[in-house]
Amino acid sequence: MSREKKIPTIVIGICGGIAAYKIPELIRLLRAAHMDIRCVLTVNGARFVTPLTVQTLSRNRVYEGMFDPADWDIEHISLADDADVVVVAPATADTIARLAAGRADDLLSSVILATGAPVMVCPAMNEKMWLHPATQKNVALLKKYGYTFVDPESGELACGVTGVGRLASLDTIVRRIKELLV
Ligand SMILES: Cc1cc2nc3c(=O)[nH]c(=O)nc-3n(C[C@H](O)[C@H](O)[C@H](O)COP(=O)(O)O)c2cc1C
Repeated sequence: MSREKKIPTIVIGICGGIAAYKIPELIRLLRAAHMDIRCVLTVNGARFVTPLTVQTLSRNRVYEGMFDPADWDIEHISLADDADVVVVAPATADTIARLAAGRADDLLSSVILATGAPVMVCPAMNEKMWLHPATQKNVALLKKYGYTFVDPESGELACGVTGVGRLASLDTIVRRIKELLV
């Protein structure tokens, strides 16, 4: 008798950074790798990528807020429970700071506090923001909590300078997610 293998559920938190434009392609790659994708858009994430694009490519509804009266489900708990991995991509300096502070003031931070699944953080920001001691202190704390970081790469940044801060390549992110699922 064959044992059915469950399709892994990946919750992707999309934050308000310019690299958010790359996440629809990440969603496509993960779906092609037979993963169920649920996306949480932060309020500022939705300024960079539309819920319609994310929802169409993920083939699931997109999650944006905690207080939608149409939902009877407590979404931050059900998403947290359903996730096999929670990926934050792109992770902004602001969201990293909120996670390090243990905040739960939006859907994404609440899901992350409530989940028992591995959390993978893929930062992308201006080099000075990334290297700032405040950001580095927050990253070190989150690593202590056991979060996996896919560090940003060097190259040309959206702000016009060359430095470290680019979102890691999508191939790297996909590979690291697969490693967490084994
Ligand atoms: C055009 C533009 C691009 C931005 N890009 C980034 C970025 O790449 N990384 C980052 O950490 N913040 C970036 N920010 C700042 C964030 O949008 C801001 O800190 C916001 O509060 C993040 O909210 P969120 O983390 O809840 O999505 C950018 C802002 C603007 C206006």
